[in-house]
Amino acid sequence: MPASVIQFTQSAMIQMTDILQISQNTNSSKTSHTLFVCKTCASVWQEGKRVGESGGQKLLQRLQDLAEKWELRDEFPIQAVECMSACSRACVVAFVGKGKLTYLFGDLPVDHNGEAVLECASKYYAKSDGLLPWSERPEPLKNGILARIPTS
Ligand code: FES
Repeated sequence: MPASVIQFTQSAMIQMTDILQISQNTNSSKTSHTLFVCKTCASVWQEGKRVGESGGQKLLQRLQDLAEKWELRDEFPIQAVECMSACSRACVVAFVGKGKLTYLFGDLPVDHNGEAVLECASKYYAKSDGLLPWSERPEPLKNGILARIPTS
């Protein structure tokens, strides 16, 4: 085999390795997403004990039910948390992605907002920086934004 052909073949293999590496890096960053849901929000308390199911638990359950058919359920897991210190703005969720902006949303009534949360999470997932401009967010998440935290 002529030396020029060998050199071309080696060069092509190196380029393929680079592309594979970039692809693997991209894939690994896309799996590093979490949708946090506060399960304590909108609780009713009596004598220091929670009475019944909280609004946060209802929202969490709704999101988990919807996520069974969500195409990103494996890449963007839902994780329940006890509190995100935005208790007066219940219900509260957060989008976190490796190398992306972090968003905290509140003022989410339980009913009919699960679909909007997952729709917004899908948009967040699709953006390399996670930026969610007001005009692109679903209606229930347009005004309840509590924080947009930069990447470290
Ligand atoms: S109880 Fe939900 S943020 Fe604190």
